[in-house]
Amino acid sequence: MRVLITGGAGFIGSHIADRLMARDDDILVIDNYATGRRDNLAPGGNLKLIEGTIANADLVDQAFEEFRPDVVVHAAASYKDPEAWVEDVQTNIAGTVNITRASQRVRVNRLIYFQTALCYGITPIEQPITLNHPIRPEGSSYAYSKTVGEQYIAMTDLDYISFRLANAYGPRNMSGPLPTFYHRLTNGKPCFVMDTRRDFIYVDDMIEVVVKAIDGDGERGAYHISSGRDFAIKELFDATLSALDIQLDEEVEVRPRSPDDTYTILLDPSKTKQDFGWETSTPLEVGVERAIDYYRQYGISETYSHLRGAKEPETAEV
Ligand SMILES: NC(=O)c1ccc[n+]([C@@H]2O[C@H](COP(=O)([O-])OP(=O)(O)OC[C@H]3O[C@@H](n4cnc5c(N)ncnc54)[C@H](O)[C@@H]3O)[C@@H](O)[C@H]2O)c1
Repeated sequence: MRVLITGGAGFIGSHIADRLMARDDDILVIDNYATGRRDNLAPGGNLKLIEGTIANADLVDQAFEEFRPDVVVHAAASYKDPEAWVEDVQTNIAGTVNITRASQRVRVNRLIYFQTALCYGITPIEQPITLNHPIRPEGSSYAYSKTVGEQYIAMTDLDYISFRLANAYGPRNMSGPLPTFYHRLTNGKPCFVMDTRRDFIYVDDMIEVVVKAIDGDGERGAYHISSGRDFAIKELFDATLSALDIQLDEEVEVRPRSPDDTYTILLDPSKTKQDFGWETSTPLEVGVERAIDYYRQYGISETYSHLRGAKEPETAEV
């Protein structure tokens, strides 16, 4: 199969590329390395990489014309600077429109998108959040632009799947609380956790369902990727401590959440489980250990968050 992956040098995109390369699919990645890492992917063999932006329609059109993908996995997104609205619009809206139009032109079999759970707003009106929850992004350039991107795709006749998710974690993850905990704990800095719960999904579990979608399972529309349970941020912190074999003198400080923060984000995965015959299998402690092994080996040069003023992204989700 010929699969074009945007954002393939990033966390999720590179795991998908690895999985597909291992079964000898032909892969073309487009990435501008805004948040991706060069050591995530090594071009060669059945993997080609174009360094450039999906906001460039000519670059996108030429890549599609030459590669003629069967399936497109659109994982590129802009989010690292909450004030970079123009960049968010150029990548998440114009870039997504470029990818969508090119997918129509060369008649791809399927387009796969990743949507943030922030499309349901900062304080969702139900838990777990079902696919019927109103779409109402608020207060975030990332959430607005990703939602518009999803809506452009839905406006076409393409066979598309939009996977909506909250917090993916694992090796190569550079956003959200885990890399921050690791970075602070290994540099002897104090940590605190919020008294909130979030929907953490281990990257390999997530990739299982994405590969099934690449192979044609599932029907046109949106799906949730979630284990079906939420975790206290403190559980994630404790798993990080234990993976690092650190014993603190006193328990970590648990801070009350702000009034506009939600107690939990939990996505209802029942349709995904049913249509894809899919279950998650990686316990939090195991996934955290694997992520920590990766951080130890490759280091963390930078962590990213779409949240304003968040260089303490202990509660952040992409
Ligand atoms: N990680 C999560 O928890 C999470 C949650 C919800 C949704 N998502 C979505 O999943 C997708 C993948 O996220 P990720 O966690 O792997 O993030 P990531 O930052 O690791 O990957 C995004 C990739 O896109 C690339 N990119 C950014 N702008 C680009 C542009 N204009 N042209 C080409 N490439 C560009 C980056 O360099 C990076 O390699 C994104 O669409 C994101 O919105 C992720």
